[in-house]
Amino acid sequence: MTARFIVLEGIEGTGKSTHAAYLADWLAKQGQPAVAAREPGGTPLGERLRALLLDPGISPMPPQAEALLMFAARSASISEVILPALASGAWVVCDRFVESSYAYQAYGRGVPIEQVRALDRQIVGKLRPDLTVILDAPPELGLARKAGPEKKDRFEQESLKFFERVRQGYLQRAREGGGRYIVVDASRKLAEVRKDLVTAVGQLLGHKASRDN
Ligand code: TYD
Repeated sequence: MTARFIVLEGIEGTGKSTHAAYLADWLAKQGQPAVAAREPGGTPLGERLRALLLDPGISPMPPQAEALLMFAARSASISEVILPALASGAWVVCDRFVESSYAYQAYGRGVPIEQVRALDRQIVGKLRPDLTVILDAPPELGLARKAGPEKKDRFEQESLKFFERVRQGYLQRAREGGGRYIVVDASRKLAEVRKDLVTAVGQLLGHKASRDN
């Protein structure tokens, strides 16, 4: 039995965590144990780094330092959560993974993409998601969905222009990435987006069955 690694990506307010939780649940109902993960975070080191990375009080944070901290958190997530889960036969549904580093640090912040690629090779190596879903929506919509009385984190304080670069970065990566990426219109109702996700993950389940038989 081969477990699969699914990643949900997208800018703020596109519903990643809601959909990730739903998919993990849906997989469990299909008899496929699934572990939900998130980045940055999900491990003791990752959660500490997350607090630093989101803290608006840490300003300025050099973009390269930001990139390194994201990959430091990712390194812990890979060795402590993702690889053990896959090795145990569980699926992994991850709320953000390496595409966030390309979209936010390279396209958003302007870190040379070669540097992100080098970190990707060094830290992530051969571990590639079987499916990366880009939940796509205009930044105006995503940020409006997120708007609330809570204090904005260091990323949420960024401009629409920043999120537009991030969004275009995701779309560019999906165009270059081939069949393991899908772009889903996340400006629609939650239930409609969910239907597309279940179809895509269901196909992966089907492939799995035929490959493993
Ligand atoms: P998260 O809380 O998952 O975002 P959301 O508000 O969409 O639920 O992620 C925290 C922030 O970290 C988010 O603004 C994106 C940013 N981030 C990066 O810039 N690079 C990365 O590699 C990762 C994993 C996240």
